[in-house]
Amino acid sequence: MYSREDIVRLEALTLDALKHVSNREYAIAHIPALREILRFHEYRYYVENDPLIADFEYDQLYKTLEDIEKERPDLVTPDSPTQRVAKSLTKDFFSFAHLVPMLSLENSYNENDLVDWDRKAREMAGLPEIEYCIEPKFDGASISLIYENDLLARGLTRGDGITGDDITTNIRQIRSVPLSAAFSKYGIQQIEIRGEALMSKSNFKKYNDRLAEQNIPPLANPRNAAAGSLRIKNPDEVRRRNLEAFLYHVSYTAMLDGHELPEPLQTHGGSLKLLWELGFRSPEKEKKVVRGITEVIRYCQEFEEKRDELPYEIDGMVVKVNDLELQEKLGMTTHHPRWAMAFKFKARQATSKLLSVEFQVGRTGSITPVAKIAPVPIGGVTVGSISLFNEDVIREKDLMIGDAILVERAGDVIPYIVKSLADARSGAEVKIDFPTHCPVCRHPLVKPEEESVWRCINISCPAQVVERIIHYVSKDAMDIRGLGEANVKKFFELGILRSIPDIYTLPLDGIRTMEGFGERSIANLAAAIEKSKDQPLHRLIFGLGIRYVGETTARVLANSVTHVKDFADLSVEDLLQLEDVGPKVASSIYQFFRDGDNLKMIDELGALGVALDNKKKANSFSGSLEGQTFLFTGSLPNLKRSEAEALVEKNGGKTLGSVSSKLNYLVAGEDAGSKLEKAKKIASVRIITEAEFLKLIGDTPSNK
Ligand code: IVH
Repeated sequence: MYSREDIVRLEALTLDALKHVSNREYAIAHIPALREILRFHEYRYYVENDPLIADFEYDQLYKTLEDIEKERPDLVTPDSPTQRVAKSLTKDFFSFAHLVPMLSLENSYNENDLVDWDRKAREMAGLPEIEYCIEPKFDGASISLIYENDLLARGLTRGDGITGDDITTNIRQIRSVPLSAAFSKYGIQQIEIRGEALMSKSNFKKYNDRLAEQNIPPLANPRNAAAGSLRIKNPDEVRRRNLEAFLYHVSYTAMLDGHELPEPLQTHGGSLKLLWELGFRSPEKEKKVVRGITEVIRYCQEFEEKRDELPYEIDGMVVKVNDLELQEKLGMTTHHPRWAMAFKFKARQATSKLLSVEFQVGRTGSITPVAKIAPVPIGGVTVGSISLFNEDVIREKDLMIGDAILVERAGDVIPYIVKSLADARSGAEVKIDFPTHCPVCRHPLVKPEEESVWRCINISCPAQVVERIIHYVSKDAMDIRGLGEANVKKFFELGILRSIPDIYTLPLDGIRTMEGFGERSIANLAAAIEKSKDQPLHRLIFGLGIRYVGETTARVLANSVTHVKDFADLSVEDLLQLEDVGPKVASSIYQFFRDGDNLKMIDELGALGVALDNKKKANSFSGSLEGQTFLFTGSLPNLKRSEAEALVEKNGGKTLGSVSSKLNYLVAGEDAGSKLEKAKKIASVRIITEAEFLKLIGDTPSNK
């Protein structure tokens, strides 16, 4: 897509534009360049997965363009990077016919199926051997894109294969889908491209964590998440979900007058390469072209082993005849093409039996039904217990004790019950009754009208206290190893751990004599408790277990104060100013810090030596170099080497010892030697002066 010369040129343009951030005259004179720069960095980030500038730098450039386009709407173009953002909600999705029907693929589940398919294809083709192109079978939602005169004209869902819903506005939110691409360079006037929209495993987890913070049942798997997201009528929400797309098939092309189908489009592998070169995320890096079915099988097996390491879900491989002329010759059955075959990986679904349902009390008093099932192995782990989240799930899935059930575990996602096999009931199945009282403290349960979760509102309910302590010591909170779930429960029952502050006064000498504890484990426990006193503030805030405050929100909160008790002075309005904090979250935080018992507990923790202040905030102003790497070379006009390195660290960056592609910035002073020469050869390394470095960190006295 971008040649070395392009990269060098765009890097220079980027540096220049960064020097003129928010400068009107510069922006007006450089609108096309700004767009080209932004597109380039979007491509590096979303397609290549290898960004060259910091997010905040990208944001500054984006804002420069956005501001000038607001002032001069006459200069806006439909493929400007700002034009992904939609102006309003989507009303209805209209259907449109696909240029070519979207067929599905035939599935094979083992090597023999592939061997049979290859034999039939060879017979039909009259060839001793066929060339195949193999690529992953992405587990998302199919999409179909039409580009006309180089512009993205329309994006459709699969629909019934003949017509699909117009989801163009949502497709524009997928930042790896280019809004324009230079098809005309190849003589193409109109092209239809097929692919798959998906949500990466990590974004899926983040999304579900956000739902969990609000006690909303999580989405079952990334596939459902992608399919559901494409049909949301609020494009901003679609954008927030960070969908991705792989484009893997050219289904139709119309050429400009006097042009022939370009050579790359005569093979499937060539099409993927052409798409990649035009800026699409095609499986160009994942594909393999081989001759003969033995090699196909080998590649499928090789890929299956890597399945769990991939950042996205795949459920198999797709094998396609590489030569398009031969594809045409093989044709299709009524349902699927004869030139392609899906090779499905081992099932991650299994049937089992619902044995019983337990009701667990969470740290906020929520009652979660948990299904105990006859243990079944799925994709390498044995599943025996599955959360059902709330009463509605039991009803929606029509579950009864004794039911045969279908269970799925997608990748490293938590297992869930797809459905009950209600048709197979014998009559002996038993209805699941939701309890009316807390299974632990017997307090009557309540369900606030706007919620789907039943709660025990007795805040001294032992189950809740224990869960709050378990949460406080957990890995993502204060990370007190050695004080896992089992020990917390044990110490609680013994009466030596009744509250969070009790952790810091545990009678370790007494515990030392208990069964199962040795010198080593006590020493480790003592060290972990001691270490937790210095955990960063966001971990403490998360550990306090404030309702709706998950890890992400805790970080935002921590960054906004210098001391945890600052929250006691913030109003709901103040809290609402913070990123991602809505009314529900704000009111929960407000209430937490207005509760005398909570404030007393925080004071106690402080008195026991737990750090309550924001260390990062006290030392550095923004951490704006987070994730960035630096190296200093030559003599700098003002700073000593050690001072410069300390500044990097204070601002959240890292200093490296040598020049490599891992380096983001080389700060070069006078008489810089070999390091500078080496850095010049790596396009992604930015060479800057001391003055530029100081500008990058804000160069304010408070910052040094
Ligand atoms: S090719 C005419 N390639 O699997 C052939 N499909 O059961 C068009 N899929 O609806 C499909 N990854 O949503 C093809 N690399 C890939 C794929 C792929 C996922 C999906 C696609 C299709 C379904 C077929």
